[in-house]
Amino acid sequence: MDSPTSQASKVAIGIDFGTTNSSIAFAGRSDEVQLAKFPYLGSLTDAYRSLLYLQQVREGGANTLKSWTGPEGIEQYLSADVKGRLIQSLKSFLSSRTLHGTEVFGRRYTIEDLIARILRDLREKAEQQFGINIRSAVIGRPVHFVGAENQADDGYAEGRLRSAFELAGYESVEFEMEPVAAAHYYESMLDHDELILIGDFGGGTSDFSLVHVGPTVRRRGRVSGDIVGNAGVGIAGDSFDAKIIRHLVSPALGAGSQLRSLGKILTVPNWVYIRLERWHHLSLLRGRDVLNMLRGVHAQSLEPEKIGALIHFIKEDLGFHLHRAVQKVKVDLSNNPVAKFQFSDGFVDLEAMVERASFEEWICDELGQIAACVDSLLSSSGVMPQDVDMVFLTGGSSFVPAVRKIFETRFGENRIRSGNEFTSVARGLALKAMDVRMSDSKAR
Ligand SMILES: Nc1ncnc2c1ncn2[C@@H]1O[C@H](COP(=O)(O)OP(=O)(O)OP(=O)(O)O)[C@@H](O)[C@H]1O
Ligand SMILES: [Mg+2]
Repeated sequence: MDSPTSQASKVAIGIDFGTTNSSIAFAGRSDEVQLAKFPYLGSLTDAYRSLLYLQQVREGGANTLKSWTGPEGIEQYLSADVKGRLIQSLKSFLSSRTLHGTEVFGRRYTIEDLIARILRDLREKAEQQFGINIRSAVIGRPVHFVGAENQADDGYAEGRLRSAFELAGYESVEFEMEPVAAAHYYESMLDHDELILIGDFGGGTSDFSLVHVGPTVRRRGRVSGDIVGNAGVGIAGDSFDAKIIRHLVSPALGAGSQLRSLGKILTVPNWVYIRLERWHHLSLLRGRDVLNMLRGVHAQSLEPEKIGALIHFIKEDLGFHLHRAVQKVKVDLSNNPVAKFQFSDGFVDLEAMVERASFEEWICDELGQIAACVDSLLSSSGVMPQDVDMVFLTGGSSFVPAVRKIFETRFGENRIRSGNEFTSVARGLALKAMDVRMSDSKAR
């Protein structure tokens, strides 16, 4: 029987570390791709929630800090009587030059440490399932990381992601653009050549690639000119969620409310609500400084019950519950013209019927920026919409009807394909890893 190491030399691993969900795929010699599966709530999923839960546990008379990731993180968080810290959307911090890390129960962690914790679990769980050692992989990156303003920011974010992989025990990683990876996956189903436009809409970013794919390209070997162009924006599902929170939740937690300070009427600082809207910032709101500031606001507030509800929300780390409520209404609105939003934080009970049309109005700016990104990719590449043979839409946010509409109006419904929304990138990364392995072995 092959040893795990010799087996590892025959398989190729692709890892999609997503803002919301991660997947890990491996391709064997037959081009057949398998995905690691993870138990969650009595069934199996191949989308591993990219979240980390840390909690102090009393062991042997002392407090020990323990951590869990993915589905186990969720289960642990839900069953804890006293909540620890649940951190989501960590990928969105990678380009930030001001936020290097955070303190959790008195210990300082860098963003790379926190991401590495998730990546290590992914590796170990996949190693167990596939019966191999995983030390190298092709990993995805967005065209532009959330918050990146220039190429230097993207390079910085990529460097940090590489460090996180190294900390997690990966010895050699190679990057591929996420939409290009999705193109590899799409190509694996093709029996003819096409110029395709990929649109990958995730939690943090929307990414686009124009790529020549098909049997001719595969036979002759890929050349850089096959990728006609890439583009991307740091706007996707998390930005849509922010608008849902702004309209349905923040006002009940005191956004825009007033306080009396030194005889003057002031508005509650808005930056708290800006952080409340963003999953990655929300996870870090629970610092002593913020809570002390809010207690001061509470004492002077003209609507103290709302600020009390906000303090309760932050102290109890209810971000996961909010995420679930927002996710539910968003998913329901992808399928129905009207959906119910429901959230309770123990102090406020929120319930509202939301029309899809209202949601689309709230995210109108974001949709405009996504559409502008697609148009500029086409024009900078010198490609007319009629030159594109097919459009492949993937990623969880591609389910949003208004996102699909951007493509329907430009390319027509007949030229739109979709599928494997949560795993196409990981599948394509594994196929790319297989290509790399084959060309390495030919070169030897
Ligand atoms: N049916 C649906 N309708 C609308 N949005 C959805 C639906 N299903 C999932 N989403 C959204 O898709 C996003 C997650 O998609 P995905 O897993 O592709 O992202 P990701 O790969 O983790 O992120 P990124 O690629 O930006 O790093 C979340 O914002 C989620 O709320
Ligand atoms: Mg993704």
